[in-house]
Amino acid sequence: MTLHLVLCLCVYMFAQGAQGNIDDYECVDIYKQPAFQHPLLKNHKIQETFNLDGNIERNNKYSTQEHCPKRTVAILRQGNESQSVHLNSAEYLGQHFATIETMQDETIYRGAKAEISLHDLKLENNQYSKSQIWLENGPASQLNSIQVGWAVHLRLYGDSVTRLTIYWTGDGYQKTGCYNMQCPGFVITSQKFIIGNVFWGSSIYGQISLTIDIEVYQDPISGNWILKIFDEVIGYWPKELFTYLNEGASLVRYGGNTYLSPDGISPPMGNRHFPVADFKKTAHFKNIVVRNSSYERVYLEDGKIRCYADSYSCYRVTYWGYLNSSEVAFSFGGPGGNCGV
Ligand SMILES: *[C@@H]1O[C@H](CO)[C@@H](O)[C@H](O)[C@H]1NC(C)=O
Ligand SMILES: *[C@@H]1O[C@H](CO)[C@@H](O)[C@H](O)[C@H]1NC(C)=O
Ligand SMILES: *[C@@H]1O[C@H](CO)[C@@H](O)[C@H](O)[C@H]1NC(C)=O
Repeated sequence: MTLHLVLCLCVYMFAQGAQGNIDDYECVDIYKQPAFQHPLLKNHKIQETFNLDGNIERNNKYSTQEHCPKRTVAILRQGNESQSVHLNSAEYLGQHFATIETMQDETIYRGAKAEISLHDLKLENNQYSKSQIWLENGPASQLNSIQVGWAVHLRLYGDSVTRLTIYWTGDGYQKTGCYNMQCPGFVITSQKFIIGNVFWGSSIYGQISLTIDIEVYQDPISGNWILKIFDEVIGYWPKELFTYLNEGASLVRYGGNTYLSPDGISPPMGNRHFPVADFKKTAHFKNIVVRNSSYERVYLEDGKIRCYADSYSCYRVTYWGYLNSSEVAFSFGGPGGNCGV
């Protein structure tokens, strides 16, 4: 009975979107979703089998009441209070990071996975606060980047609610790429309303730690980059969107990223607190693995990562390495404030 209750908690992960004000989604024919407006995807055939860990795993590890009929997918309907937001490189000024990332040493990664703790944050104006995974390759001017995690992002959503958020660019944030489904790119295969949706809850400081399990990996046959949430395929970034990433990722990064408001104040990151060891009191990533060049899941090696935090008074990161309870893990976050640009 107790076990059953615990399972139910997980099952309602993306249950009711009552907290936000733009939780509406529409069900769109799977072949009429935004991705198919991409010139290179006109004749794209949706990938239906995924070539790692056995065959397709549409096995209802969790379910949501919000889902679309067969052969349709859920697209977030954004109200007019939200804007189309292009994450451009000019915005680099004003961003802050507290992350761990792999060394640039020619190693190639075919995927990354982690459980990321979920937190509510109240933000203002143009601020955003993200906790996410990046997979990247290519020089800055042509950077190929896939990003996925949670974000509180006022300009994007028009609210200060924690939402599952994805992003991609194929040219260093110049002409290609966007959040979620704002431009043709990501192909949704799940009937469930996941991308842009709110979570079923968030961690409670000192009491409960809630996490979301995210994996991105390159399919060895198709070359597409697959997104899995709780081991269920949600969709993928077709290889046509990328150049350098088609050879695998040269860098994997995990952690927090913020952007300041016009008055120069940076928002909180993680759960607002500096990192500590107690996972009920700290924002953290745990069970971190990467896929090596043979597409196998392996632990990050301590000697192959570096910690990066660019404003010690605002945000910090503490890498724990392998722990019995959580495998490879780190804590991060902080209150923000006047952190410079
Ligand atoms: C959305 O736009 C319409 C028409 O421009 C306007 O009347 C309405 O107030 C807007 N709603 C919000 C929430 O801004
Ligand atoms: C990838 O990891 C697997 C499992 O640990 C290992 O057998 C294989 O040799 C690794 N491949 C490379 C290229 O390191
Ligand atoms: C880690 O787990 C192993 C096996 O469960 C156990 O033998 C060992 O004592 C644990 N180590 C620590 C430091 O808890």
